[in-house]
Amino acid sequence: MPDGQEFSGRTALVTGGSRGIGRAICARLAAGGARVAINYRKEQVAADAVRDEIIGAGGAAVTVAGDVSDPGQVKAMIAETESAFGPVDLLVCNAGISASGEADPLSYDTWRKVMTVNVDGVFLPVMTVKDGMLARGFGRIVCIASIAGLRARPMSVTYGTSKAAVIAFVRNISGVLAPAIRINAVAPGLIETDMIANMDPKRRDGMIGGTPMGRIGEPNEIAEAAAFLLSERASFTTGQTLVASGGRVTIP
Ligand SMILES: NC(=O)c1ccc[n+]([C@@H]2O[C@H](COP(=O)([O-])OP(=O)(O)OC[C@H]3O[C@@H](n4cnc5c(N)ncnc54)[C@H](OP(=O)(O)O)[C@@H]3O)[C@@H](O)[C@H]2O)c1
Repeated sequence: MPDGQEFSGRTALVTGGSRGIGRAICARLAAGGARVAINYRKEQVAADAVRDEIIGAGGAAVTVAGDVSDPGQVKAMIAETESAFGPVDLLVCNAGISASGEADPLSYDTWRKVMTVNVDGVFLPVMTVKDGMLARGFGRIVCIASIAGLRARPMSVTYGTSKAAVIAFVRNISGVLAPAIRINAVAPGLIETDMIANMDPKRRDGMIGGTPMGRIGEPNEIAEAAAFLLSERASFTTGQTLVASGGRVTIP
């Protein structure tokens, strides 16, 4: 850390960095000194705004388009990141979708759509960066799961299953990647982003009522949890899931 910032000299790639939680993670890592590649799928204007904000604050950032569920596009976005900033040291697998807008949340089409983005979309970036990280002897990875993956929710069969898979993937692969690479998950509760913008107000109020801290979380509160796990402050932590849900879910 030549200039005292914990991510100085590091290259970070954040999937789904154009909006919501991913956007806050990009800003947080850049504030910590990382050079940040902001991945997005469709919203180029939003991704460009994140990049411009980081550069305006004196940081380094590029945008890299690509669908996390497509192996070729994942390879290309990582190659683009590396040609801009050098090898990926910090990977945040944040991109994700919910099934709530789907006509039939339990259809096979919805299942495939959610699984390919939320599960393949974590597996592919991790598998694409891991060999380089192992060869260099350094890698830090955080995957954004959800409390939906930790408990039964009849409204979230597909989404909850995909997030439970992320938690299990992190747990199972951590021993394969250690000691050079640490990989952990963050499981947020309800966070104020576009993902929950169309939620039924009664459901939203019910969730707030079930949250001991009595409110919805902010994206920067999840960014802070991710930054902690990526940093050397978490130097003996791997394979874990950190729940940030205002007390709505507690583990073990
Ligand atoms: N908000 C919550 O309450 C909550 C709670 C628990 C967990 N989470 C998880 O947190 C993560 C971020 O959620 P959010 O609320 O910030 O969502 P959001 O506001 O809807 O943003 C989603 C981000 O993911 C990107 N994305 C979606 N599909 C993609 C794909 N196939 N390839 C590449 N990028 C893709 C979007 O890119 P474009 O802008 O290009 O569309 C966008 O940047 C997700 O994994 C979500 O499941 C959210």
